[in-house]
Amino acid sequence: MGRVENKIALVTGAARGQGRSHAVRLAGEGADIIAVDICAPIDGIGYPMATHEDLEATRDLVIKAGRRVIALEVDIRERHALTEAVEAAVTELGGLDIVVANAGVAALGRWSDLDWQQWDAIVGVNLTGTWNTMTAAIPHLRARGGGSVVATSSVAGVVGLPFAEAYAASKHGVIGLVRSLSIELAEEGIRFNAVCPTGVSGTGMLQALAGVTDIEADDRVKSAFLNAFQVDTVEPSDVSSAVLYLASDESRYVTGTAMSVDAGLISL
Ligand SMILES: NC(=O)c1ccc[n+]([C@@H]2O[C@H](COP(=O)([O-])OP(=O)(O)OC[C@H]3O[C@@H](n4cnc5c(N)ncnc54)[C@H](O)[C@@H]3O)[C@@H](O)[C@H]2O)c1
Repeated sequence: MGRVENKIALVTGAARGQGRSHAVRLAGEGADIIAVDICAPIDGIGYPMATHEDLEATRDLVIKAGRRVIALEVDIRERHALTEAVEAAVTELGGLDIVVANAGVAALGRWSDLDWQQWDAIVGVNLTGTWNTMTAAIPHLRARGGGSVVATSSVAGVVGLPFAEAYAASKHGVIGLVRSLSIELAEEGIRFNAVCPTGVSGTGMLQALAGVTDIEADDRVKSAFLNAFQVDTVEPSDVSSAVLYLASDESRYVTGTAMSVDAGLISL
């Protein structure tokens, strides 16, 4: 028996990086997967999003793990399109138990250089898109009599991150959503938790942000990215372990938490 045997999980941002890792890990532990990704560029975000081929690769890995998968190319900012696509996939697979609201974008720069389009994209994907994912999914969790929602925040959802105001604000917002919904929907058996990773290697986001050299050299940025452990980053699989625990019934009374996978960064 897997740790989420025969559950059905929706994972956003599933085409690459942490989202792919979560989808494949949950599948390896017995879950069928609804894998959502935009697979298209986002105006205002200076690095590429995942591609159709990336999402196909995630799909193939889930099939290899022996589970069913539906891959959806949807922008989580598009509430109606997302709700309809999730509805159709849930109907096809026969229900929904787990939601991993993981999709996100970032930009690094001086506050005075952050234009409206960037602000709108970051808050639109990370906060409004996470809300859209939750509202699209909650009716299906309700129909099941309960479920688990895990949202990807960040260490920047707990402490400030200089030169990333929109990102930090959106990730603080994700924790606000999780805490509030965890109280409101506890009586329906639906749990809401966040994971807060430090820098995660092998992701499109980190690769893209690593190129912003004038900001990277700033001492405030260096200290904001400093972990207590002597590692620069954690692996996607480290975050997937936290997601799996929070998604599974092992955490049945854990709700409203912001679980750090931060190599000690927040405690420094
Ligand atoms: N990489 C890090 O260092 C780090 C640290 C802490 C938190 N995070 C968070 O982890 C999450 C996963 O990011 P990652 O690190 O795997 O980076 P990533 O860029 O590799 O993956 C993000 C995925 O989300 C998808 N996506 C972006 N906008 C979307 C939208 N509007 N609709 C649907 N899909 C969309 C992208 O196409 C991509 O596949 C994000 O929420 C990010 O903010 C990342």
